[in-house]
Amino acid sequence: MLILAVESSCDETAVSLVEDGRKLICDKILSQTDHAIYGGVVPEIASRRHIEAVGGLADLALEGIDKSKIDAVAATYAPGLIGAVLVGLNFAKSAAYSLGVPFIPVHHMRGHIAANYLAFPELEPPFAALVVSGGHSLIVDVRGYTDMEVIGTTRDDAAGECFDKVARVLGLGYPGGAALDALSKTGDDKKYPLPRAHAGDSPFDTSFSGLKTAVINLIHNSRQKGEELDEASLAASFAAAVSDALVPRAVEATKMLGYKKLAVCGGVAANSRIRSDLTRLCDGNGIEIFAPPLKLCGDNGAMIASQAYYEYMAGKRGGLDCNAYATMAINNG
Ligand code: KG4
Ligand code: ZN
Repeated sequence: MLILAVESSCDETAVSLVEDGRKLICDKILSQTDHAIYGGVVPEIASRRHIEAVGGLADLALEGIDKSKIDAVAATYAPGLIGAVLVGLNFAKSAAYSLGVPFIPVHHMRGHIAANYLAFPELEPPFAALVVSGGHSLIVDVRGYTDMEVIGTTRDDAAGECFDKVARVLGLGYPGGAALDALSKTGDDKKYPLPRAHAGDSPFDTSFSGLKTAVINLIHNSRQKGEELDEASLAASFAAAVSDALVPRAVEATKMLGYKKLAVCGGVAANSRIRSDLTRLCDGNGIEIFAPPLKLCGDNGAMIASQAYYEYMAGKRGGLDCNAYATMAINNG
Protein backbone atom coordinates (compact mmCIF):
# COMPACT_ATOMS: atom_id res chain seq x y z
CA MET A 1 0.00 0.00 0.00
CA LEU A 2 1.54 3.31 -1.13
CA ILE A 3 0.93 6.37 1.09
CA LEU A 4 1.77 9.97 0.26
CA ALA A 5 2.25 12.06 3.43
CA VAL A 6 2.68 15.72 4.23
CA GLU A 7 4.28 17.14 7.39
CA SER A 8 4.10 20.87 8.23
CA SER A 9 3.63 21.12 12.00
CA CYS A 10 6.58 23.41 12.74
CA ASP A 11 9.40 24.70 10.55
CA GLU A 12 10.00 21.72 8.25
CA THR A 13 7.86 21.19 5.15
CA ALA A 14 8.06 17.55 4.06
CA VAL A 15 6.37 15.35 1.47
CA SER A 16 7.08 11.65 1.46
CA LEU A 17 6.09 8.32 -0.06
CA VAL A 18 6.23 5.10 1.97
CA GLU A 19 5.10 1.60 1.05
CA ASP A 20 3.35 -0.61 3.62
CA GLY A 21 4.53 1.56 6.50
CA ARG A 22 8.10 0.32 6.30
CA LYS A 23 9.63 0.96 2.90
CA LEU A 24 10.80 4.52 2.30
CA ILE A 25 10.33 5.47 -1.36
CA CYS A 26 11.26 9.15 -0.99
CA ASP A 27 11.32 11.95 1.57
CA LYS A 28 11.57 15.54 0.38
CA ILE A 29 12.19 18.05 3.18
CA LEU A 30 12.69 21.78 3.25
CA SER A 31 13.94 23.20 6.56
CA GLN A 32 13.02 26.84 6.99
CA THR A 33 15.95 29.07 7.80
CA ASP A 34 14.03 32.34 8.21
CA HIS A 35 13.51 31.91 11.95
CA ALA A 36 17.16 31.96 13.05
CA ILE A 37 17.37 35.73 13.34
CA TYR A 38 14.35 35.76 15.67
CA GLY A 39 15.77 33.06 17.96
CA GLY A 40 12.64 30.93 17.61
CA VAL A 41 9.96 29.89 15.14
CA VAL A 42 7.69 32.77 14.07
CA PRO A 43 4.32 31.05 13.43
CA GLU A 44 3.08 33.30 10.64
CA ILE A 45 6.36 33.11 8.74
CA ALA A 46 6.33 29.31 9.15
CA SER A 47 2.81 29.08 7.66
CA ARG A 48 3.74 31.27 4.71
CA ARG A 49 6.88 29.26 3.95
CA HIS A 50 4.86 26.01 4.05
CA ILE A 51 2.43 27.46 1.50
CA GLU A 52 5.31 28.35 -0.79
CA ALA A 53 7.14 25.04 -0.41
CA VAL A 54 4.56 22.27 -0.25
CA GLY A 55 3.56 22.14 -3.94
CA GLY A 56 7.14 22.03 -5.20
CA LEU A 57 8.08 19.34 -2.70
CA ALA A 58 5.08 17.25 -3.79
CA ASP A 59 6.22 17.59 -7.42
CA LEU A 60 9.69 16.39 -6.42
CA ALA A 61 8.33 13.49 -4.37
CA LEU A 62 6.05 12.37 -7.21
CA GLU A 63 8.66 12.57 -9.97
CA GLY A 64 8.49 9.33 -11.95
CA ILE A 65 5.63 8.01 -9.78
CA ASP A 66 2.39 6.81 -11.35
CA LYS A 67 -0.16 8.77 -9.28
CA SER A 68 -2.79 6.09 -9.82
CA LYS A 69 -0.64 3.81 -7.60
CA ILE A 70 -1.17 6.06 -4.54
CA ASP A 71 -3.61 4.35 -2.18
CA ALA A 72 -4.06 7.09 0.44
CA VAL A 73 -2.84 10.56 1.41
CA ALA A 74 -1.91 11.47 5.00
CA ALA A 75 -0.91 14.57 6.92
CA THR A 76 -0.04 15.67 10.44
CA TYR A 77 -3.22 17.16 11.96
CA ALA A 78 -1.97 17.61 15.57
CA PRO A 79 -0.13 18.81 17.59
CA GLY A 80 1.77 21.79 16.22
CA LEU A 81 1.61 25.45 15.26
CA ILE A 82 -1.97 25.67 14.12
CA GLY A 83 -1.45 27.84 11.03
CA ALA A 84 1.46 25.65 9.96
CA VAL A 85 -0.43 22.38 10.45
CA LEU A 86 -3.39 23.74 8.46
CA VAL A 87 -1.25 24.24 5.35
CA GLY A 88 -0.09 20.61 5.07
CA LEU A 89 -3.44 19.26 6.21
CA ASN A 90 -5.40 21.17 3.60
CA PHE A 91 -2.92 20.32 0.84
CA ALA A 92 -3.14 16.63 1.72
CA LYS A 93 -6.94 16.63 1.91
CA SER A 94 -7.10 18.30 -1.51
CA ALA A 95 -4.65 15.74 -2.93
CA ALA A 96 -6.73 12.87 -1.52
CA TYR A 97 -9.88 14.43 -2.95
CA SER A 98 -8.41 14.88 -6.41
CA LEU A 99 -6.88 11.37 -6.46
CA GLY A 100 -10.11 9.88 -5.13
CA VAL A 101 -8.36 8.06 -2.28
CA PRO A 102 -8.86 8.14 1.53
CA PHE A 103 -7.31 10.82 3.70
CA ILE A 104 -5.59 9.75 6.95
CA PRO A 105 -4.94 12.28 9.75
CA VAL A 106 -1.80 11.48 11.79
CA HIS A 107 -0.70 12.59 15.27
CA HIS A 108 2.78 14.09 14.94
CA MET A 109 4.25 12.38 18.03
CA ARG A 110 2.91 9.00 16.89
CA GLY A 111 4.77 9.75 13.67
CA HIS A 112 8.03 10.29 15.57
CA ILE A 113 7.62 6.84 17.13
CA ALA A 114 6.96 5.35 13.67
CA ALA A 115 10.35 6.65 12.43
CA ASN A 116 11.62 3.52 14.18
CA TYR A 117 9.49 1.25 11.95
CA LEU A 118 11.29 2.66 8.92
CA ALA A 119 14.71 2.19 10.49
CA PHE A 120 14.08 -1.21 12.08
CA PRO A 121 11.90 -3.55 9.97
CA GLU A 122 11.82 -6.10 12.82
CA LEU A 123 10.47 -3.69 15.46
CA GLU A 124 6.88 -4.35 16.50
CA PRO A 125 4.88 -3.19 19.53
CA PRO A 126 4.73 -3.57 22.43
CA PHE A 127 7.74 -1.48 23.49
CA ALA A 128 8.53 1.66 25.48
CA ALA A 129 9.37 4.91 23.68
CA LEU A 130 11.30 7.97 24.75
CA VAL A 131 9.91 10.77 22.59
CA VAL A 132 12.04 13.91 22.85
CA SER A 133 11.52 16.89 20.56
CA GLY A 134 11.37 20.67 20.59
CA GLY A 135 7.94 20.65 22.21
CA HIS A 136 7.62 17.28 23.99
CA SER A 137 9.50 14.99 26.37
CA LEU A 138 7.42 11.85 26.77
CA ILE A 139 7.85 8.30 27.94
CA VAL A 140 5.20 6.27 26.13
CA ASP A 141 3.85 2.77 26.56
CA VAL A 142 3.44 1.69 22.92
CA ARG A 143 1.02 -1.22 23.44
CA GLY A 144 0.13 -1.39 19.77
CA TYR A 145 0.67 0.60 16.58
CA THR A 146 -2.32 2.79 17.42
CA ASP A 147 -2.74 2.03 21.11
CA MET A 148 -0.44 4.02 23.35
CA GLU A 149 -0.34 5.85 26.64
CA VAL A 150 1.93 8.50 28.14
CA ILE A 151 3.45 7.32 31.41
CA GLY A 152 5.90 10.18 31.92
CA THR A 153 6.18 13.75 30.70
CA THR A 154 7.94 17.03 31.47
CA ARG A 155 6.28 19.25 34.04
CA ASP A 156 7.47 22.38 32.22
CA ASP A 157 9.90 22.83 29.31
CA ALA A 158 10.64 20.15 26.73
CA ALA A 159 14.22 18.87 26.40
CA GLY A 160 14.66 20.38 22.92
CA GLU A 161 13.35 23.75 24.08
CA CYS A 162 15.95 23.69 26.85
CA PHE A 163 18.76 22.81 24.38
CA ASP A 164 17.63 25.67 22.13
CA LYS A 165 17.49 28.27 24.96
CA VAL A 166 20.96 27.39 26.27
CA ALA A 167 22.37 27.37 22.74
CA ARG A 168 20.87 30.80 22.09
CA VAL A 169 22.48 32.32 25.21
CA LEU A 170 25.81 30.85 24.07
CA GLY A 171 25.32 32.49 20.65
CA LEU A 172 25.04 29.20 18.76
CA GLY A 173 22.01 30.25 16.69
CA TYR A 174 18.58 28.67 16.36
CA PRO A 175 17.73 25.82 16.58
CA GLY A 176 20.92 25.18 18.54
CA GLY A 177 20.55 21.59 19.82
CA ALA A 178 22.86 20.09 17.22
CA ALA A 179 25.47 22.87 17.61
CA LEU A 180 25.43 22.48 21.40
CA ASP A 181 25.85 18.73 20.93
CA ALA A 182 28.89 19.30 18.68
CA LEU A 183 30.41 21.75 21.17
CA SER A 184 29.93 19.34 24.09
CA LYS A 185 32.12 16.67 22.50
CA THR A 186 35.39 18.33 23.53
CA GLY A 187 34.21 19.34 27.02
CA ASP A 188 34.46 17.90 30.53
CA ASP A 189 30.96 16.84 31.59
CA LYS A 190 31.83 17.11 35.31
CA LYS A 191 33.24 20.62 35.29
CA TYR A 192 29.98 22.43 36.04
CA PRO A 193 27.69 20.82 38.64
CA LEU A 194 24.12 21.31 37.44
CA PRO A 195 20.82 20.41 39.13
CA ARG A 196 18.89 17.18 38.48
CA ALA A 197 15.19 17.69 39.15
CA HIS A 198 12.85 15.14 40.69
CA ALA A 199 9.08 15.30 40.32
CA GLY A 200 8.37 13.77 43.74
CA ASP A 201 5.06 12.05 43.09
CA SER A 202 5.81 10.59 39.67
CA PRO A 203 8.93 8.52 38.98
CA PHE A 204 8.72 9.04 35.21
CA ASP A 205 7.98 12.78 35.03
CA THR A 206 10.80 15.23 34.37
CA SER A 207 11.37 18.97 34.73
CA PHE A 208 13.83 21.09 32.77
CA SER A 209 13.05 24.70 33.70
CA GLY A 210 15.30 24.68 36.81
CA LEU A 211 18.20 23.27 34.80
CA LYS A 212 17.67 25.83 32.04
CA THR A 213 17.61 28.72 34.55
CA ALA A 214 20.71 27.38 36.35
CA VAL A 215 22.72 27.25 33.11
CA ILE A 216 21.58 30.67 31.92
CA ASN A 217 22.37 32.25 35.33
CA LEU A 218 25.78 30.59 35.33
CA ILE A 219 26.56 32.06 31.88
CA HIS A 220 25.33 35.55 32.85
CA ASN A 221 27.20 35.55 36.20
CA SER A 222 30.46 34.54 34.61
CA ARG A 223 30.06 37.20 31.91
CA GLN A 224 29.30 39.88 34.54
CA LYS A 225 32.39 38.92 36.53
CA GLY A 226 34.50 38.83 33.37
CA GLU A 227 35.41 35.20 34.05
CA GLU A 228 36.33 32.95 31.17
CA LEU A 229 33.66 30.34 30.54
CA ASP A 230 34.66 26.88 29.34
CA GLU A 231 31.75 26.64 26.90
CA ALA A 232 32.54 23.11 25.72
CA SER A 233 32.53 21.83 29.31
CA LEU A 234 29.34 23.72 30.08
CA ALA A 235 27.73 22.16 27.00
CA ALA A 236 28.97 18.71 28.10
CA SER A 237 27.77 19.22 31.71
CA PHE A 238 24.38 20.39 30.39
CA ALA A 239 23.98 17.44 28.01
CA ALA A 240 24.86 15.09 30.88
CA ALA A 241 22.19 16.70 33.09
CA VAL A 242 19.51 16.37 30.37
CA SER A 243 20.52 12.79 29.69
CA ASP A 244 20.48 11.95 33.42
CA ALA A 245 16.91 13.27 33.58
CA LEU A 246 15.71 11.19 30.63
CA VAL A 247 17.71 8.01 30.20
CA PRO A 248 17.39 6.30 33.63
CA ARG A 249 13.66 7.13 33.70
CA ALA A 250 13.11 5.66 30.24
CA VAL A 251 14.99 2.49 31.16
CA GLU A 252 13.14 2.16 34.48
CA ALA A 253 9.82 2.67 32.68
CA THR A 254 10.71 -0.06 30.18
CA LYS A 255 11.46 -2.43 33.07
CA MET A 256 8.29 -1.43 34.94
CA LEU A 257 6.23 -2.19 31.80
CA GLY A 258 7.93 -5.57 31.50
CA TYR A 259 9.31 -4.81 28.01
CA LYS A 260 12.72 -5.64 26.59
CA LYS A 261 12.62 -2.96 23.89
CA LEU A 262 13.08 0.80 24.15
CA ALA A 263 12.79 3.10 21.11
CA VAL A 264 13.98 6.69 21.14
CA CYS A 265 12.76 9.33 18.68
CA GLY A 266 12.24 13.05 18.03
CA GLY A 267 14.80 15.72 17.21
CA VAL A 268 16.63 15.40 20.55
CA ALA A 269 17.09 11.67 19.88
CA ALA A 270 19.94 12.83 17.62
CA ASN A 271 21.89 13.89 20.72
CA SER A 272 25.15 11.95 21.02
CA ARG A 273 25.22 11.93 24.84
CA ILE A 274 21.64 10.69 25.13
CA ARG A 275 22.27 7.99 22.52
CA SER A 276 25.45 6.72 24.18
CA ASP A 277 23.91 6.76 27.69
CA LEU A 278 20.84 4.90 26.38
CA THR A 279 23.01 2.27 24.71
CA ARG A 280 25.09 1.74 27.85
CA LEU A 281 22.19 1.60 30.30
CA CYS A 282 20.03 -0.57 28.04
CA ASP A 283 22.92 -3.00 27.52
CA GLY A 284 23.38 -3.23 31.28
CA ASN A 285 19.69 -4.04 31.75
CA GLY A 286 19.16 -6.53 28.94
CA ILE A 287 17.03 -4.07 26.96
CA GLU A 288 17.33 -3.67 23.21
CA ILE A 289 17.65 -0.01 22.21
CA PHE A 290 16.27 1.31 18.91
CA ALA A 291 17.60 4.71 17.83
CA PRO A 292 16.85 5.79 14.24
CA PRO A 293 19.50 7.41 12.02
CA LEU A 294 19.77 11.16 12.58
CA LYS A 295 17.80 12.09 9.44
CA LEU A 296 14.75 10.22 10.80
CA CYS A 297 14.98 11.82 14.28
CA GLY A 298 13.95 15.36 13.30
CA ASP A 299 10.67 16.18 11.58
CA ASN A 300 10.14 14.38 8.28
CA GLY A 301 7.30 13.17 6.10
CA ALA A 302 8.31 9.50 6.04
CA MET A 303 7.45 9.01 9.71
CA ILE A 304 3.95 10.42 9.05
CA ALA A 305 3.47 8.09 6.07
CA SER A 306 4.65 5.13 8.14
CA GLN A 307 2.27 5.81 11.03
CA ALA A 308 -0.52 6.55 8.51
CA TYR A 309 -0.29 2.97 7.26
CA TYR A 310 -1.01 1.60 10.74
CA GLU A 311 -3.76 4.17 11.34
CA TYR A 312 -5.31 3.12 8.02
CA MET A 313 -5.13 -0.56 8.99
CA ALA A 314 -6.87 0.33 12.27
CA GLY A 315 -9.68 1.94 10.27
CA LYS A 316 -8.86 5.60 10.75
CA ARG A 317 -10.05 8.01 8.02
CA GLY A 318 -10.36 11.78 7.94
CA GLY A 319 -13.23 13.55 6.19
CA LEU A 320 -12.87 16.71 4.15
CA ASP A 321 -13.94 18.55 7.31
CA CYS A 322 -10.96 17.18 9.29
CA ASN A 323 -9.52 20.06 11.34
CA ALA A 324 -6.07 20.85 12.80
CA TYR A 325 -5.37 20.89 16.55
CA ALA A 326 -2.56 22.71 18.36
CA THR A 327 -2.57 20.19 21.19
CA MET A 328 -3.74 16.60 21.45
CA ALA A 329 -2.79 13.72 23.75
CA ILE A 330 -0.96 10.91 21.96
CA ASN A 331 -3.48 8.33 23.19
CA ASN A 332 -6.29 10.28 21.46
CA GLY A 333 -4.34 10.65 18.18
O1 KG4 B 1 11.39 16.63 16.47
P1 KG4 B 1 11.88 17.96 16.04
O2 KG4 B 1 12.59 18.07 14.71
O3 KG4 B 1 10.73 19.02 16.02
C1 KG4 B 1 9.70 19.03 16.95
O4 KG4 B 1 8.73 18.23 16.76
O5 KG4 B 1 9.82 19.80 17.91
O6 KG4 B 1 12.86 18.45 17.22
C2 KG4 B 1 13.56 19.66 17.13
C3 KG4 B 1 14.42 19.80 18.37
C4 KG4 B 1 15.06 21.18 18.46
O7 KG4 B 1 14.86 21.65 19.77
C5 KG4 B 1 16.54 20.90 18.19
O8 KG4 B 1 17.43 21.80 18.79
C6 KG4 B 1 16.68 19.51 18.78
O9 KG4 B 1 15.51 18.84 18.34
N1 KG4 B 1 17.88 18.80 18.33
C7 KG4 B 1 18.87 18.39 19.17
C8 KG4 B 1 19.86 17.78 18.36
N2 KG4 B 1 19.45 17.83 17.05
C9 KG4 B 1 18.22 18.46 17.06
N3 KG4 B 1 19.00 18.49 20.51
C10 KG4 B 1 20.11 17.97 21.06
N4 KG4 B 1 21.10 17.39 20.37
C11 KG4 B 1 21.02 17.25 19.01
N5 KG4 B 1 22.00 16.66 18.32
ZN1 ZN C 1 8.59 16.76 15.68
